[in-house]
Amino acid sequence: MKLKPFILVTTPLILAGVGAATGVSVHERRMSGLPQLGYVSCIHCHQRGLDTLPWAKPRPHHDAPGGIAVSPDGKTLFIALDDRDEVAEADLASFTVSRRTKVPGGPFGLALDAVGKRLFVACRNHDRVAVLDTLDLKEQASIDVGIRPTDIAYCKTAEGERLIVPNSGSDDISVLSVSPLLELTRSAAGREPYAVAVSGDGRRVCIANRMAVHDQILSQPYSEVTVIDPASGHILAREALQSAHLAEGITDVPTRGWTLNSVVRVSNLVPITQVKDGWVMSSGVAIARGNGEVTQVPLDEANAYFPDPSGVVASPDGKRAYVASAGSDVVTVIDLDKLAAWLAQADEAERGGAMVNMALSYRYVVARIPTGCDPQHLALSPDGSRLFVAERLEDRVLVVDTASLKPVGRIVLGDGGLDDPIRLGERVFTRARYTFQGQFSCRSCHPDGHVDGLSYDFDGAGVGDNLLANRSLCGVAGTEPFKWNGKNPTLQYQDGPRFARVLMRTDEIPQPQLDQLATYIKHLPPTRTIPWSRVGQPLTPAEERGRKLFFATKRTDGTPIPRALQCQTCHRPPLYTDRLLTSVGTKGSQDTSGVFDTPHLIGVGAMAPYLHDGRAKTLEEIWTIYQTDDKHGVSSYWSKLQLNDLVEYLKTL
Ligand code: HEC
Ligand code: HEC
Ligand code: HEC
Repeated sequence: MKLKPFILVTTPLILAGVGAATGVSVHERRMSGLPQLGYVSCIHCHQRGLDTLPWAKPRPHHDAPGGIAVSPDGKTLFIALDDRDEVAEADLASFTVSRRTKVPGGPFGLALDAVGKRLFVACRNHDRVAVLDTLDLKEQASIDVGIRPTDIAYCKTAEGERLIVPNSGSDDISVLSVSPLLELTRSAAGREPYAVAVSGDGRRVCIANRMAVHDQILSQPYSEVTVIDPASGHILAREALQSAHLAEGITDVPTRGWTLNSVVRVSNLVPITQVKDGWVMSSGVAIARGNGEVTQVPLDEANAYFPDPSGVVASPDGKRAYVASAGSDVVTVIDLDKLAAWLAQADEAERGGAMVNMALSYRYVVARIPTGCDPQHLALSPDGSRLFVAERLEDRVLVVDTASLKPVGRIVLGDGGLDDPIRLGERVFTRARYTFQGQFSCRSCHPDGHVDGLSYDFDGAGVGDNLLANRSLCGVAGTEPFKWNGKNPTLQYQDGPRFARVLMRTDEIPQPQLDQLATYIKHLPPTRTIPWSRVGQPLTPAEERGRKLFFATKRTDGTPIPRALQCQTCHRPPLYTDRLLTSVGTKGSQDTSGVFDTPHLIGVGAMAPYLHDGRAKTLEEIWTIYQTDDKHGVSSYWSKLQLNDLVEYLKTL
């Protein structure tokens, strides 16, 4: 027998023997650096390869409609099918799909040129924009943009045709010329630029940023609306939507000079137990009237909530707006004349407090149209007579007659995928019906299964104590136990009784749905943090230097770093966690314990803010501001440049 197989066979036997005798073996204590370690299984540290995890395996794909666009003659609807890598074309006389074409890379955002000859497609998974000829639906050109583009707008300027693309993963905005197809500028946006709208005169383009940012842990979050001059690509303004986040939809209102945003107002700093008073989240629209003032008004009513507002469109005459509520399967119809009348007579205090005035929405909400599961993108026919609603988890597009506000048909793309447990779980995830009065869904805090960038007060009695940073569910499979304190052994437990008690204030999610939910979460792949073009490519020299620091066993001067303080001991590949509880000196004044479950680091570049309470706004801050004593890895010997390298490396995980 050769040495290695011999060691591999006998060591476990010896370890098991010693382990049985001592409770836990010397090996595990030595390797974890934890002298007090209790029982742990070998696979805590000797993890299987990532390719054995549920999200790495093939799964069923569905005809889920993403972005939709109506041709200028009103005869055709184009539908992005990101999960299929296809774009579908539907005939609006018969409401049937006429053609489908392959567009690799997760087509999600769509825009047409002024005459409907070219279709521009933002491909979220491959970081590119494709140009299709609408005659034969063939791809004519393609260009790389920033990470994860989610939308695209076309406009004509004095300097030529332009495409504006929000890159949700790299937090920037690409401005492209069309002929030739070139990237002219790439400017920094807020966090997660998501949707884009062109003003009627084509001079301003507004971009909604989905994730909020906050200046300090205890300050109110706000979401940025980035305003760009499409001709030059220059930033004209950065407007703040105060206390708002998840701005997923944006539209220009013709004839009025307004911009409307769908927003969630979040009270993340008040104890979540206030759910029963309706204080945690409210859905609404933000109205920018071009005078520098933004007013947010509610869509909710006193006992009826319309969570996860997503797509928003306004009629060509500027008289109506439609907002999709993805969590409650409804499209809300707003009478903009009535809204304008209210805005004209309300004083500053009334406008400022509008979002919490639950008796306001009846003044301008004229209808709620029920839809299929998870309505997100909306589009109107050019004459405004037909509203199209992409029912994402139903694989259909609903067609509504805007005069009667009644459904007149459905474009069927697929069968809804009800035989796929992952899909069923996604339905549970997006539906608000499991929370008290349907106030929010899992998606309200975990959009696309990810984080919303906020910290929540889950247990505290007073405002802002016991804050816990949100955690991403993307790539979470195999990293149990869950929660920062590592108290939840399974996903079912995480989302079961305690969730019902603390968050939902209502009955528990029934067991079959709970299992579907867990299945869905386990299949969420980690968030990609590097450009698609770099996937599988070697690390850059800076990232490679950072990798060496991460795996360092000695300081630059050669002094050894104790095993317990090496990054790789706790953040052990391939999941970059040992799934054990440790203290790294981050206990805050409000924390009852300083012991936390070592977080996994896959996709960590996208998970800001950092540490259990979200105190570190960036990866750098973990060590520059929040470590003074070398308890969280030995960082005192790093130069600023070395820290930069380490951060570059962490962003590739
Ligand atoms: C706390 C983490 C941890 C636990 C738990 C653990 N190990 Fe290890 N083990 C390590 C580390 C670290 C090494 C060093 C080599 C490496 O990094 O893979 C190692 C090395 C080994 C090796 C030597 C093979 C090699 O790659 O050099 C064997 C065999 C082994 N472990 C078996 C086990 C068995 C069996 C168990 C369960 C009884 C176990 N280990 C539990 C962390 C752990
Ligand atoms: C009000 C915002 C909010 C809502 C709604 C919400 N979560 Fe969370 N979620 C959080 C926060 C904050 C954490 C971190 C809490 C902690 O670690 O104690 C978290 C943690 C988790 C974790 C643990 C992840 C890990 O790596 O430890 C899972 C799983 C999870 N949520 C699933 C869900 C599911 C499923 C739903 C819907 C049933 C849901 N969440 C609804 C905010 C929310
Ligand atoms: C003793 C175990 C241990 C060591 C060694 C260690 N970490 Fe950590 N790490 C943790 C724990 C526990 C947390 C969570 C602390 C908190 O939230 O307050 C954490 C948090 C982090 C986070 C933030 C994750 C998030 O989602 O907020 C990053 C990034 C990180 N560690 C990287 C590193 C690097 C790089 C090193 C080496 C310089 C290192 N860690 C060394 C245990 C360790």
